[in-house]
Amino acid sequence: MSNPTPYDRMIKLREGTIDRQIFSSKEIYEEELEKVFTRAWLMVGHESLVPKPGDFFTSRMGAESVILTRDKKNKLHVFLNSCRHRGMKVCQYDHGNTQLFTCPYHSWSFTTEGKLFGVPQYKALYDEHMNKEDWSLIEVPKLATYKGTVWASWDKDAPDFLTYLGGAKEHLDLALDARDGREGGSEVLFGVHKWIIPCNWKFAAENFLGDTYHNVSHRSVDLIGIGPSAQEGVAGRRDNELEHAKHLWVNYGAGHGVHSAIVPDEAPIVDTFKNNPVVREYFEYCNAERKRRLGDRAKLVPFVGTIYPNLSYHGKQPRTLCLWHPHGPTSTEAWRFFLVDADAPQEVKDFLRIYYMRYSGPAGMTEQDDMENWNYATAGSVGTIAKRYPYNYQQSLGKVTTDGPVAGNVSVQVSEENPRQFYRRWRDYMNDADWDTLLGLHDKGPASLAD
Ligand code: FES
Ligand SMILES: [Fe+2]
Repeated sequence: MSNPTPYDRMIKLREGTIDRQIFSSKEIYEEELEKVFTRAWLMVGHESLVPKPGDFFTSRMGAESVILTRDKKNKLHVFLNSCRHRGMKVCQYDHGNTQLFTCPYHSWSFTTEGKLFGVPQYKALYDEHMNKEDWSLIEVPKLATYKGTVWASWDKDAPDFLTYLGGAKEHLDLALDARDGREGGSEVLFGVHKWIIPCNWKFAAENFLGDTYHNVSHRSVDLIGIGPSAQEGVAGRRDNELEHAKHLWVNYGAGHGVHSAIVPDEAPIVDTFKNNPVVREYFEYCNAERKRRLGDRAKLVPFVGTIYPNLSYHGKQPRTLCLWHPHGPTSTEAWRFFLVDADAPQEVKDFLRIYYMRYSGPAGMTEQDDMENWNYATAGSVGTIAKRYPYNYQQSLGKVTTDGPVAGNVSVQVSEENPRQFYRRWRDYMNDADWDTLLGLHDKGPASLAD
């Protein structure tokens, strides 16, 4: 490699080491807001959060506030939440319905199409020299919807969303498709959990790439065994069917990584939600219907994944999406969206709401374990001496194939290949690489065999 950049020196893929300063340096944090979060496709919300004309949901892209809104003609928009006059947030609410976004500072108002509509004393003060058409809200150049989720990029040259998603699509689908195998059909259980954790956003994104190695830290929750598969004598934090499955850790050119599993035909049927007959029956029906619709494809089941850079999903139980918004070098604002089939019986939705919250989110028993790890790992890494030593990413180095049962770079043993690929792409964004590089089109092999 000619003239290595500072980022080439921090991310050593063949050696499997990463400079821990990328998780705490202020300068690096500022630079990644500029280089990662203004280019990559970012999830901003879900269509079910803005079902009617005039509905809005304030979201974030990187560290900045944006408004996801549906205009009078039912078209979705994502605007920077910043008045064109002095930058005041024109929308102060988390969600709602409006005809106009009226700025609280000097009362300029904007339509749901982003047009500057009202300017107090316009005729007297501005008429001759300001054209309202020139002062619309700033709108993202790239917007896409995918099975209910809404995505945006600030880069007008970004590839279309499905190209960006690449092979990770078949795994994200497992979280977004209806439980009976129909495509899409999910809705977000309102509202969205939001909380702040004292670690860098990459800690959480990386964990959801499939850090199966950390399962030991959930030992206490496993022992309680309060998951949906729990039955007499069998503790079930998650579905036991994964015990009999062939586990796969898969990554893709664009930096996404997933952990999914293939359940063999002979795996025992898992009797879930035994304590509630309505919910149990619903999932029995859905599982049978999914097998009927998808045939062999129904054997692929989701666990977790991260779509680069900061959208993670939990695909089955619980079924959630999580955004890890950068909030500072060692601060992340986590947003967790809980998904259900929109046409599921209300009793199923109510049951899942409680189960999801017990598992995930700020009070979720499993998520609390994770947060404790990320938070104290951060505290233990920022000292003057601690900063000098890299983290170890050597697990299953080189044990990866492109010839697996699904597309992508596949590991069939617990592996850190997914984070190696994630940081390979992160390094490329930080090096201002072109889109072909950012999509992995120049990759000559898996991350652990790369320079
Ligand atoms: S800052 Fe919005 S009207 Fe002045
Ligand atoms: Fe965890």
